[in-house]
Amino acid sequence: MDDRCIAVLDSGIGGVITLKKLKEKYPNENFVYFADLKNFPYGNKSEKELKDIAFSNYKRLLSFGVKVVVFACNTLSVTAEECFTNSPVPVIGVKPIARKQGKGLLICTPKTANSVYVQQLKKDADLTVLPQDGLADEIELSFEGKPIDLKKRFLGVSRDYDYLSLGCTHYPFLTKEFEKIFPKSRIISGEELIFDKFNKIVTTANPNRKNGIVLFVGDGRKKAEQLFNRIF
Ligand code: DGL
Repeated sequence: MDDRCIAVLDSGIGGVITLKKLKEKYPNENFVYFADLKNFPYGNKSEKELKDIAFSNYKRLLSFGVKVVVFACNTLSVTAEECFTNSPVPVIGVKPIARKQGKGLLICTPKTANSVYVQQLKKDADLTVLPQDGLADEIELSFEGKPIDLKKRFLGVSRDYDYLSLGCTHYPFLTKEFEKIFPKSRIISGEELIFDKFNKIVTTANPNRKNGIVLFVGDGRKKAEQLFNRIF
């Protein structure tokens, strides 16, 4: 039994869906969610900036006495997760996925698109990568009432992909819209994969504790908490 809490980190609200899935699966765990709006967006930052952000946020999260840190952010995971392989507290990152079979379209931040991780995915699959400059920003703003014209972004893009891989944790908020734009494509994202790793390395909390708490920190804490309460 390990009653320390689970940390979930993203540049903003993107990781709230990961938090929701974790909370559904592990209701008796305590969570701390770090909405790092101060450094938002991550998607155009340099490798050095992202590694510095990853280290400083990791240190801050350790001060809450956590047992695992989840980077609920593809951009941070593909850039900095490898720096934490020897960390005493495991770091698990949400990363973009591709399928061995079928023709796929991966959409993600420019930083993720240029990563070694995605270049490798492209070698192993029939995958087209389409970086989305500013889409995470638009999604953040949409929660303040600004509409998004998603169709316009994908004008001229083939609709014949077998699957559409959402390589940024902000994008699943638009799953319904993506389904309309790409009716023939299956929508996938890397969040589910963290559960396999999770079960292997994380010792769960006292099963007698009924309901764990969720603490929100960082500049985007209010927004993330409101959204979490709306969707959970
Ligand atoms: N949600 C983040 C991701 O999965 C990135 C958004 C951003 O800060 O650009 O990559």
